[in-house]
Amino acid sequence: MRQARPLGNFSHTHLVEAATSNLSRSSLENGGTVARRRFFGHLHWLVPRPRSSCHWLVPRPRSSCRLTLIITYVINIIITMAIIIDNPWEKQSQAPVQLHFFGEIHMKIEGSVALVTGANGGIGQAFVRELLKRGAKKIYLGVRDPGSLRGLFTESGKLVPVMLDLTKPAQIEAAGKVASDVTLLINNAGAVAFSGALAARDLVAARQEMEVNYFGLLALTQALRNSPALRSGGAIVNVLSFLALVTLPVAGTYSASKSAALALTRTLRAELKPRGIQVVGVFPVQTDTPAFAPLPEPKLKPEEVAAGTLDAVAAGEEEVFPGALSRGAADFFKKDPAALQARMSTSVHAVG
Ligand SMILES: NC(=O)c1ccc[n+]([C@@H]2O[C@H](COP(=O)([O-])OP(=O)(O)OC[C@H]3O[C@@H](n4cnc5c(N)ncnc54)[C@H](OP(=O)(O)O)[C@@H]3O)[C@@H](O)[C@H]2O)c1
Repeated sequence: MRQARPLGNFSHTHLVEAATSNLSRSSLENGGTVARRRFFGHLHWLVPRPRSSCHWLVPRPRSSCRLTLIITYVINIIITMAIIIDNPWEKQSQAPVQLHFFGEIHMKIEGSVALVTGANGGIGQAFVRELLKRGAKKIYLGVRDPGSLRGLFTESGKLVPVMLDLTKPAQIEAAGKVASDVTLLINNAGAVAFSGALAARDLVAARQEMEVNYFGLLALTQALRNSPALRSGGAIVNVLSFLALVTLPVAGTYSASKSAALALTRTLRAELKPRGIQVVGVFPVQTDTPAFAPLPEPKLKPEEVAAGTLDAVAAGEEEVFPGALSRGAADFFKKDPAALQARMSTSVHAVG
């Protein structure tokens, strides 16, 4: 261990530690590795050290000492700024993040690499358009049939179709490899059957809802475990439903699958919190898309869901009730969940 020499009220090591402790904090929040912290911890050997002949505590140091002092300060400032503003050594592997004061890290949409599942659906298309508007660098379009994308989007340079049926493990694994640079995962694809518990004669519809809305979401997230979205500064958005919170019996098995996905969202959030990964749950009420046509008016526009969600991501929020309709329902739910559930429970299938 080298001895630190006094430098005014600070020692040489103090200044370097001040710089590297900033790094350690931001590295930890960003999922930084021990090796990387060690590397930066050794940067202080680059800082010129005062010669023993210099008298640091005298009021007017000799010019060579003064020069060394200035160089020391400048190098320390450069190291600190590189750490605080933008760590150039981590650029390749990190999601673009906005570093706010007081240590909050928010996902930055501009420059992000997104994967949107169900990109050809009503809300999926709205997400893709909103991401393009906000300056995403690349967007993987997860779809079961790439032909279904024909004519949907005008800007093609940034869009990369990926064949992705969430009930097919081989396609999930392949998508995980292709989209390994993803920084923003939007789990949007969903299946709904509007079948009751006893009105349905078998498990086919209920299983499909669970396969897509719960297991598919989990499997794809696992397949992307090494992507920046899950490792450093990224974000995961799970499009759940207001029906994850209250059960609508005409879509009872769908509600069950979304409640399962909500529990999974909370689990992922807890697991990824130490890496500073934002995990967002989205709770839209009925939205104007073909699959949900049986739900009553008034409805949200898909664009409201996409814009509200991306605003919340950029603001560092974890739960989103997009649009005024969802926010109104959330207020009702928070005040009296039992009364809301009783109201929803009047909509049932006839049981033969
Ligand atoms: N609309 C609403 O009222 C509402 C309300 C709350 C939450 N949500 C949720 O919002 C999300 C988007 O729904 P949406 O309203 O936009 O409905 P949508 O237009 O029917 O879109 C659903 C998307 O999911 C895809 N999908 C279905 N099964 C799949 C599978 N096995 N593998 C991969 N993709 C699959 C569909 O692809 P294909 O075109 O190949 O079928 C389609 O792209 C869903 O998670 C839904 O539960 C919707």
